[in-house]
Amino acid sequence: NAEDGRACAQRIDAAMSIIRDAGRMALDYFERYRSLAVEEKSGGQDIVSIADRAVESLIREAILDRFGEDGIVGEEHGNVSGSSGFQWLVDPIDGTGSFLHGLQTWSVVIAILRDGEPVAGLVLEPCTGRLYRARCGEGAFCDDAPIAVDTATPFTGGLFAIGASRPEASAHIGAVVTGVLAAGGGYMRNGSAALSLAHVAAGHYLGFYEPQLNAWDCVAGLLIVSEAGGTADDFLGDDGVFARKPCFAAAPQAAPLFRQIVNGEVEPLEGTR
Ligand code: IPD
Ligand code: CA
Ligand code: CA
Ligand code: CA
Repeated sequence: NAEDGRACAQRIDAAMSIIRDAGRMALDYFERYRSLAVEEKSGGQDIVSIADRAVESLIREAILDRFGEDGIVGEEHGNVSGSSGFQWLVDPIDGTGSFLHGLQTWSVVIAILRDGEPVAGLVLEPCTGRLYRARCGEGAFCDDAPIAVDTATPFTGGLFAIGASRPEASAHIGAVVTGVLAAGGGYMRNGSAALSLAHVAAGHYLGFYEPQLNAWDCVAGLLIVSEAGGTADDFLGDDGVFARKPCFAAAPQAAPLFRQIVNGEVEPLEGTR
């Protein structure tokens, strides 16, 4: 109904301005990344700094200032439940590894859910200023230009981003990378799941896969891919926002083979085992 549409539109407008403010703060920290103390969470590949926490605080305060009844789930500061039916998923810096090693491929990520369903996704790449975004049913955009997945390039001409962060997944990731290369695809990784999904939506990668992600990493990007015409898993499904699950998205012509490779259903070529 109209009131619902207005409530969504107000939040999306706010999100567009909040994510830009967050991006400016994050860039400010990035310019002095070498001076930031790096703290380990579960291990040396799972790190965080003051930048992640400060940017998430900025986003949360800006949301609650405007929409005090909304719920928020953020990576660094946890969950507050709300009563309005709206819930925000916040990843203040996706690609902290890239960020704290001085690489530019990290992003600020916001998804907005209504009654548990994604209604909007925003992925800002502060180092280029590009904002990837989608609203459910209204297409995907980079800044003001519509974007679409690359439906012309075959699997063998395409690039596939494969994310991984845990040592336990090493053999599986090795097999997926082997499978992609053996089938003639190209292998890439930029360190930010959300930005990788945005790059599938914009036609740069033909696919993205990671075996274990959180909702704040990928719900925004999956909506952008699906609004851009791609095949994108329903991440939330029956499991909701606290599940850690695989994330899969691809251009439609590449999705079946990429899915088979991910599922271990393709025999590697002779000599590539
Ligand atoms: C991580 C990034 C990375 C992926 C990890 C995520 P963070 O998020 O998306 O690319 O491999 O699984 O946790 O910790 O940088 O926000
Ligand atoms: Ca993290
Ligand atoms: Ca993340
Ligand atoms: Ca993060």
